[in-house]
Amino acid sequence: SRTAAVIPAAGRGVRLGPGAPKALRALSGTPMLVHAVRALAASRAVSLVVVVAPPDGAAEVKTLLADHALPERTDFLVVPGGATRQESVKLGLDALPPGVDIVLVHDAARPLVPVDTVDGVIEAVRDGARAVVPALPLADTVKEVEPGAPGEPEPVVATPERARLRAVQTPQGFDRATLVRAHEADVVGEGATDDAGLVERLGEPVVLVPGHEEAFKVTRPLDLVLAEAVLARRRA
Ligand code: CTP
Ligand code: MG
Repeated sequence: SRTAAVIPAAGRGVRLGPGAPKALRALSGTPMLVHAVRALAASRAVSLVVVVAPPDGAAEVKTLLADHALPERTDFLVVPGGATRQESVKLGLDALPPGVDIVLVHDAARPLVPVDTVDGVIEAVRDGARAVVPALPLADTVKEVEPGAPGEPEPVVATPERARLRAVQTPQGFDRATLVRAHEADVVGEGATDDAGLVERLGEPVVLVPGHEEAFKVTRPLDLVLAEAVLARRRA
């Protein structure tokens, strides 16, 4: 049994503001993508990491990985990504060699995920789950709205019971064949905001394991401040 990680890193990072593609932006001096690759390669179970680079940035990403210290026991591949996250993940899956039977999909934008979270996901897949998602309870109450005209107050439709909701993270772990089937089934391009969502649509079970606060997604400028504070705390 061989486990590979696909790291979609092809996004522009519009919400982070102007600058380089998000995955290439520095966190305490090191590109976010390098942190993310190291976080997944830190798991002894992960023997291959496929990085899905910005569509015109594969050469730059290859250079970046060559210039940073990475574990020798891990193989690395770089492929160009697509216009959406889902397309980028699909392009990463297409690059997996035979023999890989467990696949993790991990956002480059979650550079600080602890290795224990990665190992927990892998273990649950090894124990027989076909789709595993790290998740945490919500701090905020969530409202469902009827989206209206921009600038107008939005009417509330419902308030789902918070105790039954979870915020999901990555790495999400899958039996390879199930994940490939889930991506291929979405030919109409209905889309999903995470990979497990595609598996749910197949009617296959998806299970949650505990996520971690440090697996948060760097999305907006304040998240960079938090990420650098976490790194400083680790180094202290
Ligand atoms: N991603 C990707 N290909 C895309 C879009 C996103 O590989 N076409 C990746 C991002 O690089 C990121 C992950 O998917 O690692 C999660 O996406 P998100 O946090 O939304 O990143 P961006 O799409 O880059 O950010 P934004 O939505 O603010 O532009
Ligand atoms: Mg995005």
